[in-house]
Amino acid sequence: MLRKHPSKDYYTTLARKLGLLSRAAFKLQYIQKRYGFLKPGDKVIILGSAPGGMAQLAARYVGPRGLVVAVDVKPQDFKIADNVVSIIADVFDPEAMGKIREALKGELADKLISDLAPNLTGIREVDMPRQLGLVEAALRIAKELVRKGGSLYIKLFESPEVKSIEDRLRLSFQRVKRIVPTATRKHSSEVFLLALDKK
Ligand SMILES: C[S@@+](CC[C@H](N)C(=O)[O-])C[C@H]1O[C@@H](n2cnc3c(N)ncnc32)[C@H](O)[C@@H]1O
Repeated sequence: MLRKHPSKDYYTTLARKLGLLSRAAFKLQYIQKRYGFLKPGDKVIILGSAPGGMAQLAARYVGPRGLVVAVDVKPQDFKIADNVVSIIADVFDPEAMGKIREALKGELADKLISDLAPNLTGIREVDMPRQLGLVEAALRIAKELVRKGGSLYIKLFESPEVKSIEDRLRLSFQRVKRIVPTATRKHSSEVFLLALDKK
């Protein structure tokens, strides 16, 4: 069963102390420290970016020459940082692709992060297909809008499908790794796939 979690914990408190908009920021910080995932000057798409913790940190990592395109169905704080463009869009809406492309000013992104998650019901048979649908939408966007040599960091929930998505990613990326960031809550079924260097 996918768990709905209590809202207060170590990372939630730490995020608040550090002025971060959400604890999700630490899941980006984790791969940043280990893999130097984002580079100064990178253009990065974040799908599922509200309330904005990851976008805040991404904006710092890519710096003033970089760009963060932060996409969510929910409105976000439009003043996250000068180098963040916020887009309100549903990833299932065919217009989302065009809006992201426009924000990238016709260029391709260096990185794509998907932290998309459905509203959890706690019923696996309902939540799992919804989550997998979001992953497929993220992979469609990545296929179109991430450059050769670019990389992905995609959230999934543990299921037999993770292995098949991992195998698919291996066909188009040089290296694929499963990552469970320390900020992922204990007992959570959340797992990320890090796919490096698009072929
Ligand atoms: C775990 S939260 C993201 C937290 C965020 N990464 C941060 O740093 O604060 C998951 C997000 O996915 C978004 N989402 C869910 N379905 C979506 C869809 N179809 N299109 C766009 N965003 C969606 C939700 O609105 C929610 O804000």
